[in-house]
Amino acid sequence: MNRHSRIAGTGSALPERIVTNEQLSREMAERGLETSDQWIAERTGIRQRHIAAPEVSASMLATQAAREAIAAAGVSAEAVDLLIVATSTPDYVFPSTACLVQKALGIAGGAAFDVQAVCSGFVYGLATADAMIRTGMASCALVIGAEVFSRILDWNDRGTCVLFGDGAGAVLLTAADRPGILASKLHADGRYENILRTAGNVCGGGITGHPFLTMDGQAVFKLAVSTLDSVARETVAQAGLELSDIDWLIPHQANLRIIQATGRRLGVPIERVIVTVDQHANTSAASIPLALDQAVRDGRIKPGDKVLMEGVGGGFTWGAVLAQM
Ligand code: ACO
Repeated sequence: MNRHSRIAGTGSALPERIVTNEQLSREMAERGLETSDQWIAERTGIRQRHIAAPEVSASMLATQAAREAIAAAGVSAEAVDLLIVATSTPDYVFPSTACLVQKALGIAGGAAFDVQAVCSGFVYGLATADAMIRTGMASCALVIGAEVFSRILDWNDRGTCVLFGDGAGAVLLTAADRPGILASKLHADGRYENILRTAGNVCGGGITGHPFLTMDGQAVFKLAVSTLDSVARETVAQAGLELSDIDWLIPHQANLRIIQATGRRLGVPIERVIVTVDQHANTSAASIPLALDQAVRDGRIKPGDKVLMEGVGGGFTWGAVLAQM
C-alpha cells in the first residue's frame, strides 16, 4: 500500500493588538510621514494588521498555533516526530525556532528545523514534510509558518511598513493510506535576490549591512503574478487534475491586486479564493496557514475539498502544494 500524508488539523495565532490603517496613518503623521487608509486599501486591499507586543516572539506565536493544530487533529503532542518552522524572523540566529517550539510543547527526540524561503516558506515546509512522511522518515509532522515581521520593518519607510503584519499558522500532517497531499512544486531564482530582502547580519557584536526590509514593489508585483500562475498550473497538472477541479485557492496574502490577478488568470472565481490580507496584511510565511485555518474553522473548507496553496517571496522563491482535505 502506498504511503501518503494528510492534513489532520490546523491552527493559528494572532497578536492581540490590531492596528488599523487609520491608526497607522495617525502614528506615521506624528513622524512626518504621509499615508492614508485610502492609499493603503486601494493599492493593497489591507485594512488592518496585528502587531506583536515587544515580549512576543515568533516561537511563542508558533507554539500557540501548533497547540491548536494538535488539538484539532486529536493527536497527542508526543506523536509529533517532525517539526518544521518556516520563518524569516526567528527568535535567534540559533538554535532554530523549531527547537524552541519543540521545547515549549514539552516534546523531544523528533527532527526539528527551520525553513528559510521567506513568504514561500510554508509551502516549502509542507512539501518537505510530505516527502519525509511518504518516504517513511516521519509519521506525524507539525508544519508552522510564524513571523514577527514588524521587527524588520523600517517604520520610517512608508513604501514598506504599511504592508506587513505578525502572526502564525500551523498544520498537523499525518501518515495516511490515501492522499492527502496530491502534488507539490518548489522553485527559486537567486538572480532576483535583490528585489526583496533584509540584507543585514549579526557580526562581531553588531549589525552589518541593512537590518530592515527593502523591496522593489513593482518588480515583485510582476514576478509574483507570473510565478503564481505558472506554479499553479504545474502543480495541478502533476496531480493529473484540471484547474476547474480545484475547490479553493489560497495564494500568499501579499496584496489583493496580486490575489485577484492570480484568480482571474487561473479562471478561479473570487468566491473560491481565500482572502485574509485585508485583516492580517502580509504575514510572510504565516499567511497561507493563517488563511487555511480561518477557512477551515469558518466552515468554508470541508473534508474532501481540494485546496491549492501557493507561495511567492524573497529569494526569489515560489511553490505550491495541492491538498485534499
Ligand atoms: N502612502 C502614501 N503614498 C505612498 C505610500 C504610502 N504608504 N507608499 C508609497 N507611496 C507613494 C510613493 O512615494 C510614490 O509617490 P511619488 O509618485 O510621489 O514618487 C507613489 O506612492 C507611488 O509609489 P509606487 O511604489 O510606484 O506605488 P505602487 O503603485 O507601485 O504601489 C505597492 C506600491 C503597493 C507596494 C505595489 O508596488 C505592490 O503592490 N507591489 C507588490 C509588492 C508587494 O505586495 N509586496 C509585499 C511583499 S512581497 C511578497 O510577499 C511576495
